[in-house]
Amino acid sequence: MTDLSLTILTETANDAQAIERLHERTFGPGRFVLSAYRIREHVDHLLDLSFTARIGTLLVGSVRQLPVVIGDTKALLLGPLTVEPPFRGRGVGRALLERALRDARAKGHRLVFLVGDETYYRRVGFEAVPQGRATMPGPVDYNRLLVAELADGAFDGVSGAIRPDWDVAK
Ligand SMILES: CC(C)(COP(=O)(O)OP(=O)(O)OC[C@H]1O[C@@H](n2cnc3c(N)ncnc32)[C@H](O)[C@@H]1OP(=O)(O)O)[C@@H](O)C(=O)NCCC(=O)NCCS
Repeated sequence: MTDLSLTILTETANDAQAIERLHERTFGPGRFVLSAYRIREHVDHLLDLSFTARIGTLLVGSVRQLPVVIGDTKALLLGPLTVEPPFRGRGVGRALLERALRDARAKGHRLVFLVGDETYYRRVGFEAVPQGRATMPGPVDYNRLLVAELADGAFDGVSGAIRPDWDVAK
């Protein structure tokens, strides 16, 4: 765990600009073509399931989650997860992930998807989605599509297109 004096807080509307700058520095302008961004164009992230990491007042990391459906099943799409470069490798990312998943489970969510490196995310419970089981809009490296079950068996029998949850879409 981190030796930093880290606070994980629920994201607020006031954090938007600082997080956008962090995304710009981390992912650059190419981020908008990514599949996960295609979904984010249509549905806002859930502020109560998105978190910032701070050291004092300094924002050093962010994770967001937004509502999707796969087939007929409600789920969350996690990301982006970003940590300021000087603060990487000290547990900030893991602390953000653990809080995001814990609060999602507490609110009754059962499935979380993301596109990322399995070697990093498996330590908090993600595993690869079997090929052909789920699709996403736009270009996706399906080797990097991961799922975490927040309830036993939540992914059993679930398949289909991952798309915005229009019930809560903007
Ligand atoms: C990925 C990221 C969020 C990790 O944050 P972090 O605070 O450095 O992560 P933690 O401190 O919790 O974990 C660090 C560990 O993860 C490992 N790790 C970091 N990125 C990794 C990756 N892409 N694949 C595998 N392992 C990775 C580190 O080597 C380190 O390993 P160790 O614990 O054995 O030393 C951060 O590096 C980042 O912002 N990267 C750029 C944005 C990005 O790629 N986001 C993820 C895709 S949405």
